[in-house]
Amino acid sequence: MRTTEPIVWLNGVFLPLSQACVPVEDRGFQFADGVYEVIACFGGAFLDLEPHLARLERSARALEIPLPLSRDKLALLCREVYARNPWPEAMIYIQLTRGAAPRAHAASPTNPTLLIMARALCLADGQRLAKGVAGITLADIRWRRCDIKSIALLANVLARREAERRGAYEAFWLDEHGHLLEGAATNAFAVIGGVLTTHPEGPQILGGITRNRVLRLAAELGIPVRERPWSPLEPALQEMFLTSTTNLVLPVVKLDGRLIGNGRPGPITRKLQEAMHAFIAELRSRARARAARGS
Ligand code: PDD
Repeated sequence: MRTTEPIVWLNGVFLPLSQACVPVEDRGFQFADGVYEVIACFGGAFLDLEPHLARLERSARALEIPLPLSRDKLALLCREVYARNPWPEAMIYIQLTRGAAPRAHAASPTNPTLLIMARALCLADGQRLAKGVAGITLADIRWRRCDIKSIALLANVLARREAERRGAYEAFWLDEHGHLLEGAATNAFAVIGGVLTTHPEGPQILGGITRNRVLRLAAELGIPVRERPWSPLEPALQEMFLTSTTNLVLPVVKLDGRLIGNGRPGPITRKLQEAMHAFIAELRSRARARAARGS
């Protein structure tokens, strides 16, 4: 286990985490005026680095925050931050804010704040992966641009706290028609009448990178897929799972106290979970081979 202090990259400088400081007038601190990404890295192999950086660029553009570095340079920096914090399983966190300025809503400072840091990635333990987790549903109280990966996560924080209070792992947002949109920090999938079903991309959900990876794996496995609004009350609901960078594919076996299917992870969930783990094992072995070649 690593015990040394993490090294972070902040506005062009590498430094120990405890020495990394942001001005109190940073707009991230005062207005949550910023965007972020969370990227998984397995033994030096990044999972879908490019799509994560593309989404960061899209989120920044949507908030009119200039990204101070090109995507290529960001990718290099992510690799360098990992190299200085080489946990076997790591999570790279990127945060971009509009920068520091005297407090005024519309201020546009010229120097955005960019942070890249790494932490150990704590994946779900075997028990949770095998047995699945419980979820609750809540009315969606978020803003109407959930496709932007904004650091303004207050509703999500409250939802996770409510889930914890009720002994559940995740809280899922319901729209006014009772459609399940996504989780507080995850996307949601169901198997309904044998069809893998998930809410379509749009302003009501974050277009998850893991969600897209799962859709690709499902296509490769020949699993029928439909992207449409769905309700957890549909009688043909058989299985449910959640996806995210930090959870990969995690079965949901109980929702609001009711069992989903027979209360055990279903066969399509299992297949996709295995396919995801196989995909990551392949990434790891390619990274090992590259390291052995010294490239
Ligand atoms: N959360 N939906 C929301 C609201 C999220 O915050 C996340 C990610 C996802 C899944 O996205 P992805 O597959 O790209 O990780 C969906 C991150 C991991 C977090 O806030 O920690």
